Amino acid sequence: MTQPVQEETCVVVVGAGPAGLTVANLLHGAGIPCVVLERQSRAYAEQRQRAGIVETRAVRMFQDWGLDARVLGGAPSDDVLEVRVDGRHRLLRFGTDDDGPQALLCPQQVLVANLIATFLDGGGDLRFESSEVALDGLTGQRPTVRYRSPDGTMHEIACDFVAGCDGDHGASRAAVPEGELTAYPFDHRISWLTVLAEAPPPPHPLMAISRHGYAGHFARGPLASRFYLQCAPTDQADDWPDDRVWQHLRTRLGEDGLVAGPITEKVVFPLRSVVHEPMRYGRLYLAGDAAHVVSPVGGKGMNLALYDAEVFARAVRDFIADGDESGLNSYSRTCLHRTWNYQEFSRWMTEMLHDAGDDSRTGPFRRKLALARLDRLCRSRASSLAFAELMAGLA
Ligand code: APR
Repeated sequence: MTQPVQEETCVVVVGAGPAGLTVANLLHGAGIPCVVLERQSRAYAEQRQRAGIVETRAVRMFQDWGLDARVLGGAPSDDVLEVRVDGRHRLLRFGTDDDGPQALLCPQQVLVANLIATFLDGGGDLRFESSEVALDGLTGQRPTVRYRSPDGTMHEIACDFVAGCDGDHGASRAAVPEGELTAYPFDHRISWLTVLAEAPPPPHPLMAISRHGYAGHFARGPLASRFYLQCAPTDQADDWPDDRVWQHLRTRLGEDGLVAGPITEKVVFPLRSVVHEPMRYGRLYLAGDAAHVVSPVGGKGMNLALYDAEVFARAVRDFIADGDESGLNSYSRTCLHRTWNYQEFSRWMTEMLHDAGDDSRTGPFRRKLALARLDRLCRSRASSLAFAELMAGLA
């Protein structure tokens, strides 16, 4: 068997999602060599549709690293969230009081495409269609990462650190021996039908709690919308013909005049969360979905990935610059602190919005609770500030 091509770098980044690409850009900007290995093609990575509010904290992070103009191509985000309960609506404001930059609406595929272009234009080493990624020697001084390039050649890269940014089903966390990490899974017992449609977006991100169940309506560009409908966990997308989708959206959102449009995607998925602790094993540092999955309510998944990426990049930079190991040693603790804060926020919102239909015995009670919570968020300055802080990521 031919020997793999031997290479060296400082950091191997596995995965080119928001976490991996942010790690790569920050390290590259700090002059630290790194190689990014991504399983998919560039075209695939750039068109993968996902949610996208870049919270205020993350906008300021890109600004601190001088990357905001290049990577944040989105329009400023609306700082108002509309929640309807049985047709009554409440507007929740979540902008910060200071003059600093605010959150941005930036679909994830736009952020990913911008991060890829910025990294490659600056001479970064990003290898798409890398298969059979395998990590070794993680607890030693010099781990290695093997992979097969698209032409079939095996490579072995020796490095100082591995950033495991390859999502919940990647190779990085799978390389950690059984028993070293503890998983904290949570099944919300809620499923969503998610619908992408060429239909006008709402004036504000909109969530509705009604006697018929939860529905959401979010902008996906100037002419497209993402809709959500809570559905039975046993439902398949085929159980939801287009007419049924529009009828439920109109009823639950309380909008008889909701404009329909061609539906381009319909998927059912269960809401789930999980955290893996610690987020470090030897010289492997897990970041983003590789370490934790947060339910989509509250829009924190991508923002957590961006946070982990920066904590890691800073830690490596400090270590390389003056041998300061404190950032590397506190990486897991620092990231987990924010992770659990966001898991709590996301679960709180998930609980408020769901299981409040008349098909549930406790639904009517839950709708009354939701109204009380929303009234408190609107009327109490302390409550509204706490909510805005969490939305902005500044808590
Ligand atoms: N080898 C190389 N790359 C891999 C492998 C592997 N074995 N497995 C997965 N990948 C790649 C995926 O193709 C993907 O591009 O790793 C990347 C992981 O990206 P994301 O799943 O987007 O995860 P992350 O960067 O942590 O961002 C998390 O973004 O996707 C949302 O819901 C997610 O909001 C969350 C946030």
